[in-house]
Amino acid sequence: MVARPPQRKGFPIVGVLPQFRKNPPVFLQTMAREHGDIVHYRLGPQDVYLVSNPDWIKDILVTNQTNFTKSRFLERAKVLLGEGLLTSEGEFHRRQRRLVQPAFHRDRLIGYASAMVETTAQTRESWTGGAQLDMAREMMRLTLGVVAKTLFSADVASDADEIGNALTQVMVLFDMVLMPFSEWIEKLPLPSIRRFEKARDFLDKTIYGIIAERRASKEDKGDLLSMLLLAQDEDNSTMSDKQIRDEALTLFLAGHETTANALMWAWYLLSQNPSVAEKFYDEVDRVLEGRLPTFDDLPRLKFTEGVFAESMRLYPPAWVIGRRAKADYPIAQYTIPKKSILMMSPWVVHRDPRWFPEPEQFNPARWAFQGDNRPKFSYIPFGGGMRVCIGERFAWMEGVLLLATVAQAWRFKLVPGHPVATAALITLRAKHGMKMVAERRNSNPPATSPSSSTQSLQVPA
Ligand code: HEM
Repeated sequence: MVARPPQRKGFPIVGVLPQFRKNPPVFLQTMAREHGDIVHYRLGPQDVYLVSNPDWIKDILVTNQTNFTKSRFLERAKVLLGEGLLTSEGEFHRRQRRLVQPAFHRDRLIGYASAMVETTAQTRESWTGGAQLDMAREMMRLTLGVVAKTLFSADVASDADEIGNALTQVMVLFDMVLMPFSEWIEKLPLPSIRRFEKARDFLDKTIYGIIAERRASKEDKGDLLSMLLLAQDEDNSTMSDKQIRDEALTLFLAGHETTANALMWAWYLLSQNPSVAEKFYDEVDRVLEGRLPTFDDLPRLKFTEGVFAESMRLYPPAWVIGRRAKADYPIAQYTIPKKSILMMSPWVVHRDPRWFPEPEQFNPARWAFQGDNRPKFSYIPFGGGMRVCIGERFAWMEGVLLLATVAQAWRFKLVPGHPVATAALITLRAKHGMKMVAERRNSNPPATSPSSSTQSLQVPA
C-alpha cells in the first residue's frame, strides 16, 4: 500500500478554502504545527501538499527542480504577465533568463546604488515632521521610483501615483484571478474583471509607449530596457515588443512591491522594538557620519542588513512558493501524485523554533552569527534553484540603502490604535495599511549625491 501523508480534512467541493482564505499564512502555520513537515489538503478542486522541512524544500527547488513546473498560481499570472521570467517555463525561460541576467551583474548594481540613494533622499524630503504617513503607500511610492529609475532610466515621479494606482488595482483584482474556480469567474462580465482589464490596458499603454520611444530614438541608455532591446541570443534572434513588454512588466511588478512590503514591515517592527531601533540608528549614524550612504558602506551596515533580513524572516514578502509535480514524486516514505501542487511557505519555515529560537522575536542580532548549523533552506525569502529571484542582490542592496537613508532623517511611530494585520495577496501586505507618525531625527540631513565604487556586496547566507 502507498503511504499517504497526514491529511487536513476540509468541506466537500471547496476543501479547506474557507479557512485558508481567512488568513492564509497563519492557517498554513497551524497545519504545519498540527500535522508536521508534510500535510495534504484540498483547495477547491486542487490537491495541495504543504512541505515545511528545509531539506525536502531544497530537493524540490534545487536537486529535483526539473521534476516540477511553477504552480497553477503562477500559470494563472500569465493573464497579466504573459511569458515573462516569472511565468515562463522550460527552454524558453532559460533563454529569457540568459538575456535578462546581465542587467543584474555586479557592475550594474554599483550603478544602481547611487540612483537608489538619490531617489530616497528626494522622497524623504517630501515628508514633514509630525505628519501621519501610510508607510505601505510611501514605501510603494519609493520603490516604484527606484525600479523606474534603475531599470528604465525613467523619472516617473509625476506618473508614479497613476501607475501605482493601476498596479494596485491590478494586484488586488489579480488575487481573484488566481483563486480556485477563477477560470470560470474570469469569463463573467463582472465590474471587478472589467476594472482589472482597464488597469492592465493602462499599464500596457505606458510600457508600449516607452518601448516605441526607445526604438524610434535608437538610444542606448544603458538601463535594463535598452539591454532588453539590444539583447541577442546565440542565433541572433531578438525579442518582440510583446516579449519586451512581458519582461518589463514582470520586473516592474516583481521589482517593487516585494521590497516595499519588506521595508514597511521593517519600520513597523522597529517601532515596536525601541531598543533594537536604537542599535539600528546608532549604526547608521556611526557608519555614515552624516553623509549619504554609498555602495562601499554596505559591508559596514551589518546591523541594518540584519534588520532587513529579520523583517523578511517574520514577514516574507513572497509568503508562499508553489510547484506542480510533473510526475509522481517521493518525499520520505510518501508518494506525492503527479499534478499535485507542492506549497513551501517562507512564513511557516521562518517561524519554526527548530531553526530560529524564539521565532516571534524581532532580533536582527541573530544574523551576526555566521557559521550556525541552521539548514540553508530554512531561510528562503528569495526561493532557490534555477527559479531563484533574479533581483535578490538588487533587493538586499536596496533594502539596506533605503533603510539607512531614511533612518538618517526620520523615525516612525505607529499611530496609536492602528490595526495591524496581514493581507496575503501575491505578496504579504498590511490589510489596513501602516499608519505611522514621522518624527524628524536630524534637522540637517545631508543633501549631496553619493558616489559609488566597487566593494563586494555582502548577503547573509
Ligand atoms: C525583498 C524583495 C524581493 C523578494 C522577497 C523576492 C522574492 C522572490 C521569490 C521568492 C521568487 C521565486 C518565486 C518562485 O520560485 O516561485 C522571485 C522571483 C523573481 N523575482 Fe524577486 N523578490 C524580490 C525582489 C525582486 C526584485 C527587486 C526584482 C527585479 C528588479 C525581482 C524580480 C524577480 C523575477 C523576475 C523573478 C522570476 C525569476 C525566474 O523565475 O527566473 N524580485 N522573487
